[in-house]
Amino acid sequence: MITIDGPSGSGKGTVTQRVAARLGWRVLDSGALYRLVGHAVDRRNIDFNNENEISDLAASLDVIFEDKKVLLDGVDVTDAIRTEAAGNNASKVAAMPGVRAALLDWQRDYVQQPGLVADGRDMGTTVFPAARVKIFLTASPQERAVRRYKQLKEKGLPANLAALTSDIEERDARDRSRAASPLVAAEDALEIDSTVLSIDEVVNRILSEAQRVYAIPL
Ligand code: DC
Repeated sequence: MITIDGPSGSGKGTVTQRVAARLGWRVLDSGALYRLVGHAVDRRNIDFNNENEISDLAASLDVIFEDKKVLLDGVDVTDAIRTEAAGNNASKVAAMPGVRAALLDWQRDYVQQPGLVADGRDMGTTVFPAARVKIFLTASPQERAVRRYKQLKEKGLPANLAALTSDIEERDARDRSRAASPLVAAEDALEIDSTVLSIDEVVNRILSEAQRVYAIPL
């Protein structure tokens, strides 16, 4: 088990995929689960203040992960949950203890041999506290906004750097200050600042940590 936590745009998604591919391990993209809940709330016109209804919804979500696609109630939402608006809705529902509790077992069920790389905010602190390799990946807010900008442009989605920077700062503040599982490094996490590191450098650092702890042949 490797947990990779950190703020949005720190490169967690890409790094997680690459580390998992190198090891032949499964991936848990926990942010996708919060994005799915946020999207479902939006689609069903549920009030974002109605924590009880949203928590019930999170516990009964009809989701299918199919190859690289995600279906919600049978509808392909793969791209819809990747927009900035979906990220913001995810961050709102992620602040609700009832939602976090509803998603806990779902996330733990992802554990599978030979191993799991879990990407999120509280993988090392709350969901998999016994993991032996915990990474906390950061980067400056400016660098993260630029990365997100490039990602959106590559996908042909609309992007505005100033708006992205303030969105990232707002989302960071909400994720760090919430009472339920705030974004914080686990005490035993290895912190990696990726501001001036390439993706390969980050991946190699994590792989050598995994090798050191688990004696995995690479
Ligand atoms: O990693 P992401 O951008 O897809 O996450 C979307 C939102 O979900 C993010 O604002 C914080 C929240 N989240 C969380 O609270 N806990 C997680 N384990 C993963 C994501």
